[in-house]
Amino acid sequence: MRIGVAGYGYWGSKHVRVLSGLPGVEVTVVDADESRLAEAQRVHGPIVAVSSLDECLDELDGVVVAVPPAAHAPLALAALDAGKGVLVEKPLATTVADAETMVERARARNCCLMVGHTFEYNPAVWKLKEIIDSGELGKILYIDTARLDLGRYQNDCNVIWDLAPHDISIVSYLLDEMPDETSVWARRHIGRRHADVAYLRMTFPRREVSAYVHVSWLDPCKVRRVTVVGERKMAVYNDLSDNERVRVYDIGVDALESDDVHAMPVSYRTGDIVSPYIQHAEPLLVQDTHFVESLTTGRAPATPGERGLEVVRVLASTDEAAAPATAGRFRSLGTAS
Ligand SMILES: NC(=O)c1ccc[n+]([C@@H]2O[C@H](COP(=O)([O-])OP(=O)(O)OC[C@H]3O[C@@H](n4cnc5c(N)ncnc54)[C@H](O)[C@@H]3O)[C@@H](O)[C@H]2O)c1
Repeated sequence: MRIGVAGYGYWGSKHVRVLSGLPGVEVTVVDADESRLAEAQRVHGPIVAVSSLDECLDELDGVVVAVPPAAHAPLALAALDAGKGVLVEKPLATTVADAETMVERARARNCCLMVGHTFEYNPAVWKLKEIIDSGELGKILYIDTARLDLGRYQNDCNVIWDLAPHDISIVSYLLDEMPDETSVWARRHIGRRHADVAYLRMTFPRREVSAYVHVSWLDPCKVRRVTVVGERKMAVYNDLSDNERVRVYDIGVDALESDDVHAMPVSYRTGDIVSPYIQHAEPLLVQDTHFVESLTTGRAPATPGERGLEVVRVLASTDEAAAPATAGRFRSLGTAS
């Protein structure tokens, strides 16, 4: 099987590494930048490397689209029109209309369309979901996520479209539902284009849970954290931890009913902190292996285009609020529809 990887940048180069190691898979690297093609050949030796998808589409069985988000739709549609299965990096597209067209085209051509929601292929996220579903945490009160770093500033989208697809995908996967409302605070601090710090609040109606998402390209500390606060216990998934990615804290707070205004309003419970064993597997390897299996078997992937479209709808709901971010004072940008 031959897979074309469109975009040999930061992330596409990882797809090429992972796919090249899969048995029976050969890779064609596609990048509009000649220097990136030369780099692919330096790293991988005699790998086929071309400067446009059109040049190699006929020879491919599937395509991974790992170019900047605004270029996802045209490349994915070209691949689908040629009858090829496609794995598109997150976010699936930069508009709802494009994402809908991609999903419709995949259906019409009977082709696999998969979105690269990498964290849905992450064993630590699976473990966190297992813990939530077991009821160990009790009723979920809220979820908080932080995805912060210094960079990588993007040209064609703001920090929400760049980083929050991960958090929207993780939280909706954990809760088995999509949010019905999104509020956004966002601000651009550096450059003239896009908000680089944002806070989202999403409400999940069935579970009556709110999730708070903090994303930033402008933070001194790299943070990749999901905190799930339950009535009985709390769990923290720290993607940067080497061997304790998920910790379950047997702690909580109980309200004390008393008419005495001087009495303690709550009591605190503290207990063990447990870190469950999680089998190591590189999420991108799990994801790309699943894509190849979907191409081979014809079975729908776990994260089909429809899943990418759901997340794009949530991202688009933040646009109205995030677009007018100015260099002025921090302002509440309201509730997006
Ligand atoms: N799943 C994840 O965890 C994850 C992580 C990082 C990035 N991403 C996604 O991967 C994609 C790429 O991000 P990146 O950080 O690697 O970007 P990048 O800028 O580092 O690389 C993009 C590459 O695409 C090439 N390119 C642009 N337009 C092209 C075209 N029309 N045809 C061929 N090549 C073209 C550029 O020359 C560049 O080499 C984005 O969609 C991003 O959201 C996903």
